[in-house]
Amino acid sequence: MSSPKITADEIRRWKGHRRIAALTAYDYPTARLLDESGIPVILVGDSLGMMVLGYPDTTHVTLEDMEHHVRAVSRARPSGLIVADLPIGTYDSPHAALAHARRLVAAGAAAVKAEGGRAIVDSVRAIVAGGIPYMGHLGMLPQSVLEEGGYKIKGRSEIEHQALLEDARALEKAGAFSMVLELVTPPVAEEITARCSIPTLGIGCRTACDGQILVMHDLAGLFPWFTPRFVTPMASCAAEMRRAFTQWRREVESSPSPPAAQPPSTP
Ligand code: KIV
Repeated sequence: MSSPKITADEIRRWKGHRRIAALTAYDYPTARLLDESGIPVILVGDSLGMMVLGYPDTTHVTLEDMEHHVRAVSRARPSGLIVADLPIGTYDSPHAALAHARRLVAAGAAAVKAEGGRAIVDSVRAIVAGGIPYMGHLGMLPQSVLEEGGYKIKGRSEIEHQALLEDARALEKAGAFSMVLELVTPPVAEEITARCSIPTLGIGCRTACDGQILVMHDLAGLFPWFTPRFVTPMASCAAEMRRAFTQWRREVESSPSPPAAQPPSTP
């Protein structure tokens, strides 16, 4: 019998009681493995674009891509809360945000996430009013990487510090059940965490938040061509797969060839 599903309300109530470990999954076997490892929040992130689809960043990911991978993850029926990213351009108006969030829920997500604070708060309110749990994402926003000219740490200046606090307050007020803080300086991440009544999930903020979220490939050493500076991989899955593939290829190539076909004998 599978364990009961973890809800967004439960995650919200864990604030101050239980720290939260969240990882990404984009497919069925990973979702099963995360479930068997007791991971309570599974993000079908638009990091899908780089980790699986071979794009340079998340700005190429479409809603159809997300639906496809949310379906695969949801077929694993994990107990953890499945959160799906709304890709770039899908939440520019409240109407579009709710319609697209509904599509991700129809594909199997239990909650959605998008990037931004006050700038998208009307869209957040529409999603929450539509009965869909919402996870915020502040700090470095990967969907803005082209405008920003790179993945930059946020919260270093007083202007950024104040903007982050106001964005966090706006998301909390709009009804978000939690929020990701990405590449936010630890003191600012700590302050947001202390002032907000909803859990914060840090990525690249050290341990300053209520929980941590990571891209599974980074933790598992499954995308060896790039590892963010703040991640210490806990396995070397890519190296182990490469070893197995090479060993098997060598075995195939060195095994004896079948006898050559004989030409048909003439009568
Ligand atoms: O897309 C993603 O994987 C994310 C995490 C980095 C938080 O948004």
